[in-house]
Amino acid sequence: MWTRERLSELIKSKLGNRLLVVVSNREPYVHVFDGDEIKHFVPPGGLVTALEPIMEASGGYWVAQASGEADNLVVNDLNEVACPPEEPSFTLKRVFLTKEEETGFYYNFANGGLWPLCHVAYIRPSFEAADYAMYKRVQEKYADAIAEIVGDRPAFVFIQDYHFANLARILKEKVKNVITAQFWHIPWPNSEVVRILPFREEILDDLLYNDLLAFQVQYHLMNFLDTVNRYLEARVEYDVSRINRGGRTTLVRSFPIGIDFEQVSRLSSSRKILDMRNEFVKKYRLKDKIVAIGVDRIDYTKGIVERFHAVERFLEKNPQYIGKFVFVQLGALSRMHIPAYRELNDSLNNMMVRINEKYQSSGWKPVIFVRANHSKETVTAWNGLANVSMVTSLHDGMNLVAKEFVAARFDLSGTLILSEFTGAARELVDAVLVNPYYIDGLADAIKRAIEMTPEEQQRRMAKMREAVEYQNVYRWAAKLLSEIFNFEFVEYDTDNVIN
Ligand code: G6P
Repeated sequence: MWTRERLSELIKSKLGNRLLVVVSNREPYVHVFDGDEIKHFVPPGGLVTALEPIMEASGGYWVAQASGEADNLVVNDLNEVACPPEEPSFTLKRVFLTKEEETGFYYNFANGGLWPLCHVAYIRPSFEAADYAMYKRVQEKYADAIAEIVGDRPAFVFIQDYHFANLARILKEKVKNVITAQFWHIPWPNSEVVRILPFREEILDDLLYNDLLAFQVQYHLMNFLDTVNRYLEARVEYDVSRINRGGRTTLVRSFPIGIDFEQVSRLSSSRKILDMRNEFVKKYRLKDKIVAIGVDRIDYTKGIVERFHAVERFLEKNPQYIGKFVFVQLGALSRMHIPAYRELNDSLNNMMVRINEKYQSSGWKPVIFVRANHSKETVTAWNGLANVSMVTSLHDGMNLVAKEFVAARFDLSGTLILSEFTGAARELVDAVLVNPYYIDGLADAIKRAIEMTPEEQQRRMAKMREAVEYQNVYRWAAKLLSEIFNFEFVEYDTDNVIN
């Protein structure tokens, strides 16, 4: 079993004198004002859990975009701040973007172009030359920040996600002695879909400046190999999952990301969370109700509209559950400058009002929509108290919400409804697997989930917990790092050169 401690030992023993630099768009700590005081918080999402042990063990740098209104007040003149603020073990170097840079880089190219393209989301991706130019210019900025840290020292740079498709090339043109690995957290679509991307050749070529490029599941990896095979002059070695181009070699791998199972499981059974559960039951009048939940960023890839339709269809088909079943959607607002996100938020609101008007009776509403940035504790409490979790993404690289639900079910009760189009569905085969495009099927899955016998729930949950516990976030990081340590780092040890 991989643990935080074991991962830490691996890093300490293998990293040697190399500097470790992590790059992501989201920063791990955000500084904001609370009245006159400056406070910090950890933004939601699994990235910090995944990477913090790596940072802590390596004492390295994390380069990310500044996002808090007080971020500029706590950094030194190199834009650096020691983190975690309470007990520093690594350095966060913030990259400050102008409004125009953020618009071109984050909203337009990364999230208006690559995001819908890779998710094959039936939201038309938009690609403008000016946005792509800004996307690359921002990556130059990141590369400069990294170069400032690294200098001539040997370094390992671990790049996160689709915000940085060109970074490995840009960085390697600026600094020698640097090894890069990039993890693509979202799906990689098939080569026909990639045809839509006007800059595909340059983007593919630049991605191949990485020594290691990793995806969530084997299917995305195969799509990537095929895409390169189709659009670039390169030698794609399918049998060993390696690509050779321009004298460089890139290992291509799949490593499913996970969560800290132990931590979530322990938290879920703590007094604090059990008290929160009771509070929520009282506040939302859930006593003796059958509760299904959805936990998402408000994003059109998550299938939230389909879920609302399914709840309505379920009540239509099964009137015996009117007054007895409640669906609670926890939603964090996201990327609201993009029209598709604003429209989604509005239509979810309208749907909730319409479904509630149709069915509500005194003291009961079928749909509760709580829009906020929910803390880990809040999500864990809801995960513990619900009977069913609905993860109905239309397409998702992994989906850690599903894994968090499973980890929170320490008493083995509860049912997970899971879209077959998530990476998580490859591991959680004991969930009730659904096609979210098929509303009747989804409605029937709700019925099946809430009527499942306690014995069957336990049997399935036990197996899913085993899978989530085994494939935890420390295993993900360890496998990725081991691959890099084994294949590449040896070249930098002058007394251990491989000829
Ligand atoms: C996905 C991406 C992450 C991103 C997260 C939240 O999981 O893979 O890179 O950070 O969504 O999106 P946001 O745009 O709010 O950072």
